[in-house]
Amino acid sequence: MIQGLLGIEDLPREEIEAILDRAKDFQPVGDGSFAQFDRLRGKTVVLLFLEPSTRTRTSFEIATRRLGGDAILISGAGSSLSKGESLVDTLNTLAAMRPDAIVMRHKASGAPHFLARHLRTPIINAGDGTHEHPTQALLDARTILDRKRSLEGLRVAIIGDIEHSRVARSNVYLLSKFGVDIVLCGPAPLVPPELAGIAPGVSIEYDMRKAIRGCDVIMMLRVQLERQHEPDFPRGEYFSFYGLAPEHIELARPDVLVMHPGPINRGREISSEVADSQRSVILNQVENGVAVRMAVLERVLG
Ligand code: NCD
Repeated sequence: MIQGLLGIEDLPREEIEAILDRAKDFQPVGDGSFAQFDRLRGKTVVLLFLEPSTRTRTSFEIATRRLGGDAILISGAGSSLSKGESLVDTLNTLAAMRPDAIVMRHKASGAPHFLARHLRTPIINAGDGTHEHPTQALLDARTILDRKRSLEGLRVAIIGDIEHSRVARSNVYLLSKFGVDIVLCGPAPLVPPELAGIAPGVSIEYDMRKAIRGCDVIMMLRVQLERQHEPDFPRGEYFSFYGLAPEHIELARPDVLVMHPGPINRGREISSEVADSQRSVILNQVENGVAVRMAVLERVLG
């Protein structure tokens, strides 16, 4: 049992391994069907999503139901937050109804950590600002491990808007605990040199072709326009320097995996040819999102 899940940075490696192992039991079996589980019978999970989400929200909802629990969705626009209620008051109100866990997404980095100190209800972070997105890193690791023997010694390039990406941070923390060689790449304003110091094994490279050479995994990221104050990069110009095109794939290892947490912006950070190619595991990531979130919910509530 763990008390909620706020991030990967402080999650021990053994805990990560236990979640990734258990997630395998929740993947579909040969004929595409799912084994039946009842571990959350009688349990209620509140999903408080105060930023847009398709994959994360839906997969937490499906994960809760597949384990026999009830999921209640609350979004910012439909809640009393839009009537001026503070986040702490909203959370106290929800906690007073005694849900068994609260899954939350919020635009402020640290919001779930702050609330976890005030509430006894376990909190699962579904993305806090530019800080962490722990279940995304776990599902990414599961997706890599479904295809590679181990994480140790792999070379992974993470390309795009690293500065504003909670997906990049959680992945760096996780991959670094497993001895992965991590290359961060993107336009200089979105990849400040200090990021090399956030975990062991991280280097920075501004030339995309160099970053990709010899890679086992390429993770592409969306430019997080909603978190930036600077003017946008022109779409075509961004793509010509940091968009993933078929010619890049030839520089990587022949069995390279192309990943993206979604939502993808075709023609901006990734070409359709690559996103829809045999090397792309983008939809496998989505599929594993359900299995990994089932493993996390079971560990927090089971
Ligand atoms: C990401 C997020 O919200 O952090 N999406 C996701 O959860 N799959 C990445 C993004 O929005 O670009």
